[in-house]
Amino acid sequence: MQYLPIFTKLDNKPVLIVGGGDVALRKASAVLKARAKLTLVAPSFCEQLQTLQQQGAVTLVEAPFSDNHVEGFMLVIAATDNDEVNAQVHQAAEQRNIFVNVVDDQPKCSFIFPSIVDRNPVTIAISSAGTAPVLARRLREKLETLIPHHIGPLADLVGRFRSQVKSRFAHFADRRQFWERVFDSNVVSEVQKGNEDEAYQQLQQMLTDTPAPQGEVYVVGAGPGDPELLTLKALQLMQQADVVVYDYLVSNEIMELVRRDADLICVGKRAGDHSVAQERTNEILVELAQQGKKVCRIKGGDPFIYGRGGEEVQVLAEHGVRYQIVPGITAAAGCSAYAGIPLTHRDHAQSIQFVTGHCKKDGQELDWQSLAKPNQTLAIYMGVVKSPDIKAQLIKHGRATSTPVAIIENGTRKEQRVFTGTLQHLDELIHQHKVQSPALLIVGEVASLHQQLAWFSTQHQVSSFAQPITDVA
Ligand SMILES: C[S@@+](CC[C@H](N)C(=O)[O-])C[C@H]1O[C@@H](n2cnc3c(N)ncnc32)[C@H](O)[C@@H]1O
Repeated sequence: MQYLPIFTKLDNKPVLIVGGGDVALRKASAVLKARAKLTLVAPSFCEQLQTLQQQGAVTLVEAPFSDNHVEGFMLVIAATDNDEVNAQVHQAAEQRNIFVNVVDDQPKCSFIFPSIVDRNPVTIAISSAGTAPVLARRLREKLETLIPHHIGPLADLVGRFRSQVKSRFAHFADRRQFWERVFDSNVVSEVQKGNEDEAYQQLQQMLTDTPAPQGEVYVVGAGPGDPELLTLKALQLMQQADVVVYDYLVSNEIMELVRRDADLICVGKRAGDHSVAQERTNEILVELAQQGKKVCRIKGGDPFIYGRGGEEVQVLAEHGVRYQIVPGITAAAGCSAYAGIPLTHRDHAQSIQFVTGHCKKDGQELDWQSLAKPNQTLAIYMGVVKSPDIKAQLIKHGRATSTPVAIIENGTRKEQRVFTGTLQHLDELIHQHKVQSPALLIVGEVASLHQQLAWFSTQHQVSSFAQPITDVA
C-alpha cells in the first residue's frame, strides 16, 4: 500500500496553500470544508480568494514563496503553475517533516486528495495512489449512484444512540446484533422518507424491547487450512465473537480473520501434547458463555468429525448454554480435492470409510476385516504414527500390498505436500519424507489418480507438487 488511508480532523488546524489562482482556489474549497485554518501565499490572488479573505475564511500573504513560510503548518499544498516553486515548496516541507501535496505531481506528494463520495457523516474515499485518477473518478461516479442519500442522516441518527446502546449491551457481539436488526428494520425506511422523528421513536422502542443478552457458543468448523474454504457463516461468527477458543489445527491464515479485539484462548491439542485437557476446555466454554459472552469455539475441519465437537456440545446442552454448530470441510474432503484424488470413482471405489489411526496399540477396536475390503477408499485421520500397524493389519486382513496409497501433509495449505506409493511401503514413505502432522492417509485405488489429476489443477497448492512423488519400491 503506497498511501495509508486515514481521515484527519483538520478543524482549526493550520494548513498552507502556495498559489493564488484557480487551482489554489479549488484546493482551498476542499480544505475549508474540513474547517481548517487556511493561509495562502502568492505574489497575487484571484478575485474569489480575495473575497474569501474579506469574509474572514482565509488569510492571504501577498509575497513570493520562501522556505520559512511553511513553518508551523500541518499540511502544505503547492498549487502554483511554476514547477520550480512547487519543487521548492515540496523540499521545504519535506525537510521539516510536514505533509505536502504538489498538485498534479504525484512523486512529490506525501499525501494525496482521494475522490470522495460525500454522505456526511459517511465519507467514502477512493484512491489509485495517483496512478489512475480518471479510473478513481469513474469508480466514484459508480458509487455515487449506488449509495443512497439517506445514508448520511441514518448515520447521524445512529450516532445519537451510540452511547445508550453501548451501556445497554456490554459485549460487542450483542451491540452488533442490535445494529444489524436496526438496519433491517423500518427505522431505515422512515429515515429514507424523511420521517426522522418517527425513526428516532422506533429506534428508542427497539432498544427498550430488546431482551437482556445471553451468552452463546458457536462451534465452528474452519476446514483443513485454506481460508477460502471457510463458510460464510463461519466467517461471520468468527467476526462477532468476544472470545475465540482455538487449537493448533486451525491455520494461522484463518486465525488472522477472527475479530481483531477478540480474546484468544489456545487449548492446544497435538498428538501427545494436550496442553488443555478436554474436560477443562468444556468448562472454559461453559464459564465464558455463563458470563454472557459470545464464544467462537473454532476447530480444524468439521467439528463433528474426529473433532470432539459432539462432547463439547453435550456439555453445553447439560448446562443449558445456547449454541450454534457450523459444519466445516473435513480434511478428507478438502485434502483429497486439492490433491486431485476423488474419494469415490465408478471404476475404483464405491464407498469410503473415515478412520482414525489414533487407536490402541494393537488396533483391535477397528474392524480390519471391513477396512481391508477392495473397491473402497479409506481416509485415515491421525494415522502417521500408527502407519506401521495400519499397514500390517490391512495386509493381514487381505488388502493387496500393491494397493495405491497417498499421504497428504498440510492439505489445502500453501505448504501442502503429497506423496504416493503402495500399501507395502506406506510407513517407509512417511519416514523417507519426514511427514509431519497434520497429515491424512488415503488407501485405495483412487490414490493412483493423483498423478493424472493434480498436475492440471490450478489451485495454488499445485506448486508444492514440484516435490518428487516417489514410491520407495
Ligand atoms: C483431531 S483430527 C481433526 C479432524 C477434523 N475435525 C476434520 O474434520 O478434518 C486431526 C487430523 O485430521 C487430519 N487433518 C486435519 N487437517 C489436515 C490438513 N490440513 N492436512 C492433512 N490432514 C489434516 C490429520 O490426520 C490430523 O491428524
